[in-house]
Amino acid sequence: MIVTIAGAGNMPRGLGTRTLAGGHSLRLDDRTRAKADDLATALSQEASGADVASADEGAVADFDIVVLALPYPAGRDVAAAWAGVLSGKVVVDISNPVDFSTFDSLVVEPGTPAAEQIAAAAPEARVVKAFNTTFAGPLVTGRGAGRPLDVFVAGDDDAAKETVSTLVTSAGLRALDVGPLRRARELESFQFLHMASQERLGLNWSSSIAILP
Ligand SMILES: NC(=O)c1ccc[n+]([C@@H]2O[C@H](COP(=O)([O-])OP(=O)(O)OC[C@H]3O[C@@H](n4cnc5c(N)ncnc54)[C@H](OP(=O)(O)O)[C@@H]3O)[C@@H](O)[C@H]2O)c1
Repeated sequence: MIVTIAGAGNMPRGLGTRTLAGGHSLRLDDRTRAKADDLATALSQEASGADVASADEGAVADFDIVVLALPYPAGRDVAAAWAGVLSGKVVVDISNPVDFSTFDSLVVEPGTPAAEQIAAAAPEARVVKAFNTTFAGPLVTGRGAGRPLDVFVAGDDDAAKETVSTLVTSAGLRALDVGPLRRARELESFQFLHMASQERLGLNWSSSIAILP
């Protein structure tokens, strides 16, 4: 698969590492082109022979999956701007729409998750919520507490969820289909609890959320 990641921050480093570990091609797009160039160079040095490159915005049409690794609401705004290109495409929303000015609530209204706002902004895109509960650091190895990280996958398009789950599994992670896109409400709220508990529980952003039998 060709995976395009919009953004070149912390999450693209982890997601990019996992994507390349799964044997996929990776394209990186960032509004600061030099950041995408630098990350592409770093990832290619870590995975010799991997197909990874930075991409112009105009090149984002050539992909199987696009991951919006941008803060919310920037991800929503980019989805709206790219709505034509994203038509019929699998779009992964990884965002946690936390109000970072207070770190006490989400910026979305209760019952209106970021994922549904992004789906509304690009109505022909096949939006899937995934990776919002995996912190960037643990994603680099893909493991936590000695086991593959769990990646919760929610969406209304079963084939799109299957495509994302294939990416997740090939990357050495465990995909858990948790139902329709509206489950993003719970995923975003639960991850907010996870984030807000980091300091209190002394977790240092290295923890993960898993479902154990
Ligand atoms: N970090 C985590 O552990 C983690 C875990 C799960 C989910 N997430 C979610 O993943 C997403 C990305 O997180 P991150 O940690 O990778 O963020 P980050 O390191 O802060 O990087 C953010 C990226 O978004 C770009 N950006 C910011 N505002 C933009 C705008 N208005 N238009 C276009 N691009 C913009 C930045 O570009 P510039 O550098 O040019 O400003 C940068 O490339 C967020 O939605 C976050 O909630 C993060």
